[in-house]
Amino acid sequence: MMKFSIGSICLIASTSISLVAADAAAVQAQIAVIGNYTTLLQSDVNNFNGSIPGLPWALQVQQDAVNLYRQVEQGTSLANASSNFGEPGSLNVASALLGITGKVKDSLNAVAAKASTFDDLGPLVLGSLYQLKASTDSFGNAIVAKFAPLEKSVAPSVQKDLDNSFNNAIMAYGGNPA
Ligand SMILES: *[C@@H]1O[C@H](CO)[C@@H](O)[C@H](O)[C@H]1NC(C)=O
Ligand SMILES: *[C@@H]1O[C@H](CO)[C@@H](O)[C@H](O)[C@H]1NC(C)=O
Ligand SMILES: *[C@@H]1O[C@H](CO)[C@@H](O)[C@H](O)[C@H]1NC(C)=O
Repeated sequence: MMKFSIGSICLIASTSISLVAADAAAVQAQIAVIGNYTTLLQSDVNNFNGSIPGLPWALQVQQDAVNLYRQVEQGTSLANASSNFGEPGSLNVASALLGITGKVKDSLNAVAAKASTFDDLGPLVLGSLYQLKASTDSFGNAIVAKFAPLEKSVAPSVQKDLDNSFNNAIMAYGGNPA
């Protein structure tokens, strides 16, 4: 059993977000960045095998989650500050999102599969999952608000799909799906 002080890690990132020119292209670029941070998180989760020698990986996973959270928040800021995406902006942003959806789901599945390995650190992971789900939902809403009608109409099914993956991971850590 691993004992670890949860209070010793600050879960909530203090974000300092810099605004650059915000438009569909900036949001699209930010989605690519988010995809890369997601891949990194997944790879570090897969490297965590528990026990004391695994602690650096657990801390790395925690840091990855905070970094990913910051990038998603940055995406929301960009989408918020952007005018309507129009076309082909909406199609480009939607394609970029669809392009990373599989990655996000894979990484959530990887997190879920490690629930028993994280053991005493589970509450920490659960906190990160809640935080990332909330920020992902906000990002989705900010994007949908700028979509053209066609993309707006297909967005709910993608959001539902992602929510299901988040909820599965959250339940694996004993949390409440929302
Ligand atoms: C994402 O990672 C790939 C592969 O490492 C790299 O080629 C690409 O430049 C990265 N993209 C961004 C936006 O960081
Ligand atoms: C953890 O286990 C995985 C799968 O067996 C392995 O690929 C990885 O190298 C291990 N991680 C470390 C840090 O040893
Ligand atoms: C984006 O806009 C929404 C709706 O106005 C707001 O609730 C949210 O705090 C904003 N988020 C960011 C990161 O700017």
